[in-house]
Amino acid sequence: MSVVSIIGCGFVADLYMRSLESFPHIKVAGVHDRDAARLRVFCDHYKVKPVASLQELLDAHPRDGLILNLTNPSAHYEINKACLDAGHHTYSEKPLALDTGQAKELHALALDKGLMLGSAPCSMLGEAAQTLGRALREGLAGTPRLIYAELDEGYLLQAAYKKWLSDTGAPWPYEDEFNVGCTLEHAGYYLSWLIAWFGSVRTVVSASAELLPDKIGKGPMAPDVSIATLFFEAGPVVRMTNSIIAPHDHSLTIVGDKGVLACDEAWDNAAKVTFAKRLNIRRKLMESPIRKTLRLPQPTHPKVKRWGAAALNFMLGPAEMLDALKTGQQTRISPDFALHMTEVTLAIQNAGEDSGAQKMTTRCDPLEPMPWAR
Ligand SMILES: NC(=O)c1ccc[n+]([C@@H]2O[C@H](COP(=O)([O-])OP(=O)(O)OC[C@H]3O[C@@H](n4cnc5c(N)ncnc54)[C@H](O)[C@@H]3O)[C@@H](O)[C@H]2O)c1
Repeated sequence: MSVVSIIGCGFVADLYMRSLESFPHIKVAGVHDRDAARLRVFCDHYKVKPVASLQELLDAHPRDGLILNLTNPSAHYEINKACLDAGHHTYSEKPLALDTGQAKELHALALDKGLMLGSAPCSMLGEAAQTLGRALREGLAGTPRLIYAELDEGYLLQAAYKKWLSDTGAPWPYEDEFNVGCTLEHAGYYLSWLIAWFGSVRTVVSASAELLPDKIGKGPMAPDVSIATLFFEAGPVVRMTNSIIAPHDHSLTIVGDKGVLACDEAWDNAAKVTFAKRLNIRRKLMESPIRKTLRLPQPTHPKVKRWGAAALNFMLGPAEMLDALKTGQQTRISPDFALHMTEVTLAIQNAGEDSGAQKMTTRCDPLEPMPWAR
């Protein structure tokens, strides 16, 4: 039997509880939330133990267990630090911290104390990412050169997001989501796959902007769009887009010397993964219109049913860490992985308009439309 304790039981905690059903050997020792009413509703529903204070939870949590930090991003650093200071292995929802300095501090603390420190997302351990990873290792598409990773959410402000509720009635925290921004919230869904396959990013060239100033929320808002070019040490160059403006598109396109690997959904562990071979037919160069669906030869991991926009098992990462604790093996969910993902994501998000940009010295007005187009 393995044990987790949960800090923060809002919207996403319900998705963790759904995922936990697929790992019956993992039990919840206790749950803490600073919102006492929310804590009561959640614990009554799932029949888990409410813990009134953070200190009580840290005192009661067993050393061979894992704490899941599911609080809002603004609390991640403080809660992750408190867990590590108390000597506990910790898995944090993304991002690990809101600035790279704080993320580095947490990373050093975990290494110093010999503790595990992981950060969501964990979908790189899921079937779609692992299927693509195998195809890349086997060279199915040849050397990967250029990758397009899209994380566009549609024109979110016109969605009924104020009505979105979790299983136990937690509202989708839209103010917080707008404050934190779609890049910090979502870039990890493909960055984690890319870093899992290729390792470090050498350089980030990015631009980001807030294009929807009418959002409801407190304080300064985060960018609604970011467009980044990522130069991986291992060779591939990635164009990554995050937005809450452009029509929903979660596609990943990996262009190699021999063809194109693709997946159309980052938020589905079982998303379809395909390969289209490059062909020369007579004098025409093309990717085969018949795409081969790739499958792994053996059973993979427990899946969860689609809920809302996602069909993700949120416990793949924590379960991997708990297994490593039991067997004494290295976990794939390392502090290095969490820190690098955080640094790259923050570089994309914080780029703004001027970071590394070339200011133009010439200008040009829009053209008059043609008379028949007026
Ligand atoms: N909402 C989603 O669809 C979704 C999906 C995947 C991941 N996430 C991530 O999950 C995390 C939580 O998001 P959420 O949507 O559940 O937010 P939420 O606001 O619904 O829930 C967060 C909970 O944490 C509690 N909390 C905050 N600070 C605390 C503290 N210092 N001590 C104790 N409790 C504290 C709040 O009271 C709240 O109940 C975020 O990092 C987010 O990026 C959210």
